[in-house]
Amino acid sequence: MKNKFPKKFLFGVATSSYQIEGDNFNSDWWKWPARNATHSVAGGEEESEVIENSGRACDYWNRWREDHQLLTNLGVNSFRLSLEWSRIEPKEGEFSQTAIQHYREILEDLKTRDIKTVVTLWHWVSPNWFQENYGLHKKKSREVFVNYGKKIIDELGDLIDVFVVINEPMMPLAFGFLNGKFPPGIKCPIKYWKASRNLSKAYKEIYNYSKEKRPKIPVGITMLYNLFEPNNKFNPIDQLIVWVAKKFWNESFFKRIRKQSDYYGLDYYFHRKLGLFGQTQQSHLKVNDVGWEIYPEGIKKALKEIWEKYELPIYIMENGLADANDKYRGQFIKDHLHHVSQAITDGVDVRGYLHWSLMDNYEWLHGYAPRFGLVEIDYTTLERIPRKSFYVYKKLIEESKEAEF
Ligand code: BGC
Repeated sequence: MKNKFPKKFLFGVATSSYQIEGDNFNSDWWKWPARNATHSVAGGEEESEVIENSGRACDYWNRWREDHQLLTNLGVNSFRLSLEWSRIEPKEGEFSQTAIQHYREILEDLKTRDIKTVVTLWHWVSPNWFQENYGLHKKKSREVFVNYGKKIIDELGDLIDVFVVINEPMMPLAFGFLNGKFPPGIKCPIKYWKASRNLSKAYKEIYNYSKEKRPKIPVGITMLYNLFEPNNKFNPIDQLIVWVAKKFWNESFFKRIRKQSDYYGLDYYFHRKLGLFGQTQQSHLKVNDVGWEIYPEGIKKALKEIWEKYELPIYIMENGLADANDKYRGQFIKDHLHHVSQAITDGVDVRGYLHWSLMDNYEWLHGYAPRFGLVEIDYTTLERIPRKSFYVYKKLIEESKEAEF
């Protein structure tokens, strides 16, 4: 059966500022020496010392025109990018008009290309002064973060089609305040809890402000939604473990902001089978370069779970894989889109699919080793080289137009 997508469906690609722009030296991640990170490779886990910051990354900050041409060549109608707080507010309360103007140019260029702008306000990275003086666990952080959010609505709101206030809150919260692997490197459940509350409260204020000033922009966040299933579905202990995992990881933050969400932003990467004896890998499934299972049916299951629970329109804001040799990526996109289309046929209101990522980029604790791009980056010359899967996705987008409903 042919895939079917609604007429205004967003086919796009996703990125984030720190991972592609380069030279974001005013930020906490720049200073963060991600030591002793566990670098997972297919077939096992390997300890490695990842101490690189993002350096010049893909130099999107200067080469964005070239990259936007790639978007046009790919045929996408949407692009997800994030704003770098540390560029926009290099000192507390002092906003850089140069940086804001730079982002205006970037967004205007997307508009002239007829590409919808999906703009993330905060993709985990904060200015140094924020981390040094506050940190999300401090109450004052709310006000500071809200000011930044309001400034963006005032200055760039006219160019934003979909607003993503926070990317995957559970990552900076759990990694920043429970296991200490992300800035600010704290391991304290009480501070975690405070940080989580401050972030959700700040979100609501930004939501309200955005609705007041620009009521037409859909506002929400993305969630790294893990598809948890019990190892043994008849075992009550396995079921209980899955229940707890879901409550904590998938639901605890979102339920606080559910009423102030115009959509659900789904980032789908993980299928996790859990039980009494821990997490099991399913041996019949392929894994990507960093050992993550490839499980396309999971996206349909996740979409259905989310739809049944929240009844909100869903944008798939990220889905992708590390695959340096481009062995699986083309088929991966085909299979995932097929399941997305099936979910739509079954009544789930899915509004878009944005593949992670346009090009290879800085993968946080893993540094530059994993390759998530439809476009390969040669980090010596910064040349952009579209992979085969780039053309597979392009074709899928073209075909989908013929089968619109
Ligand atoms: C994050 C991205 C990251 C991707 C692949 C998502 O959780 O939002 O920043 O690169 O996963 O790991």
